[in-house]
Amino acid sequence: MKDLSPKPGDLDPIELASIDEIRALQLDRLRWSLRHAYDNVPMYRAKFDAAGVHPDDLHDLSDLARFPFTLKSDLRENYPFGLFAVPREQIARIHASSGTTGKPTVVGYTKNDIDMWASVVARSLRASGLRAGDMVHVAYGYGLFTGGLGAHYGVEKLGGTVVPMGGGQTEKQVGLITDFQPKGIMVTPSYILNILEAFHKAGLDPRETSLEVGVFGAEPWTNAMRLEIEDAFDMHAVDIYGLSEVIGPGVANECVETKDGLHIWEDHFYPEIIDPATGEVLPDGEKGELVFTTITKEGMPIIRYRTRDLTRLMAGTARSMRRMEKVTGRSDDMMILRGVNVFPTQIEEEVMATGGLAPYFQIELYTSGRMDAMRVLVEATPDAADELSRTAATRMLVKRIKDHVGISTEVEVGDPGSVARSQGKAVRVVDKRNPA
Ligand code: DLL
Repeated sequence: MKDLSPKPGDLDPIELASIDEIRALQLDRLRWSLRHAYDNVPMYRAKFDAAGVHPDDLHDLSDLARFPFTLKSDLRENYPFGLFAVPREQIARIHASSGTTGKPTVVGYTKNDIDMWASVVARSLRASGLRAGDMVHVAYGYGLFTGGLGAHYGVEKLGGTVVPMGGGQTEKQVGLITDFQPKGIMVTPSYILNILEAFHKAGLDPRETSLEVGVFGAEPWTNAMRLEIEDAFDMHAVDIYGLSEVIGPGVANECVETKDGLHIWEDHFYPEIIDPATGEVLPDGEKGELVFTTITKEGMPIIRYRTRDLTRLMAGTARSMRRMEKVTGRSDDMMILRGVNVFPTQIEEEVMATGGLAPYFQIELYTSGRMDAMRVLVEATPDAADELSRTAATRMLVKRIKDHVGISTEVEVGDPGSVARSQGKAVRVVDKRNPA
């Protein structure tokens, strides 16, 4: 893999600022954001009043802990435009999450918000090792999902050449990557595995492509998966994080030279970690639920939004802004089996570590007697698809999950290609349990 480390002059001045400078800027901006939300969004005024707090009560960043949380249900209850802080005419763009249950959650951006968003994505791309003039293939979905358009505007802001491929049409993805020779690709980690397979099917060596870096996010993925992708494509794989309620992709990104967690672009997004049970703010280093407050967003400021993502905050390394550890899962994704908490990423790690298995998997939950049980559907690699190899892989995966995760599972090693492929965010868990 090529050295993509930054050279002097590659970074925004704020990325080189001291922590004191960053904190001072945050305090000013946070005051503005709380005031903006209170003055212009009835929900925030009602919530702050009910909690007995006022934007003027913020004297120090730690005072933020006195302000109430915002939940996904608040967005639903104010569907569609109730949380906008500017007249609808000043909203330049709408995005929305698909919303598996009930109404989608809608977000709105002013022109300035779109520009800020493009800047943080451009900064994320520079952290990933991309520069002005580079070509980037975007295979995140376009449309209401923030992935495609968020990535797209970021590449343009960087001064790069964007290929707005979008999700799906996997063979065509291979053709365009081969013909256009992009340096970077932006796509979900599960979909790049699907593209990888299409390279093999086309008889092409993915290590021979022009790709030097992939910027992967929108779903949890492990360091084991990183190594798998880096080896398969001979390119760097870095993590990009974000969520629509806060802005979209580009809230935080790994630096290609360290790959040690994602630097949060704290000049726009103020992070806290809380104990999900009590709501209490935890010190840096402790694991809990990530909470974000936007401090520059105009169209739809969000105050103390509970992301449900579990991680910890750590001091900066390659940049002065703090890092968040790779998100290992959302509290919503946690499965409890015979008293043991299990996240799909834990299963992913074990699948990756088991010889003879391809990196595709799906988890089925089912009812066994009166208990919940788990079945892991995986598939053999083409060179280990015989009976003997499959039996060995099955035994090995059952044992690894038992030893490392602490639960008994059923494992089914299917034929190559038997596990459902992702075109965007992977569906990791299929719930086939009997209703209680
Ligand atoms: O997934 C935004 C995005 C697009 C991020 C493209 C990165 C790349 P939503 O659809 O609102 O927005 O989903 C947000 O996805 O709360 C996390 O649970 C999960 N997520 C996003 N990025 C990561 C990541 C986009 N790098 C939700 N690692 C978030 C783990 C992630 N989970």
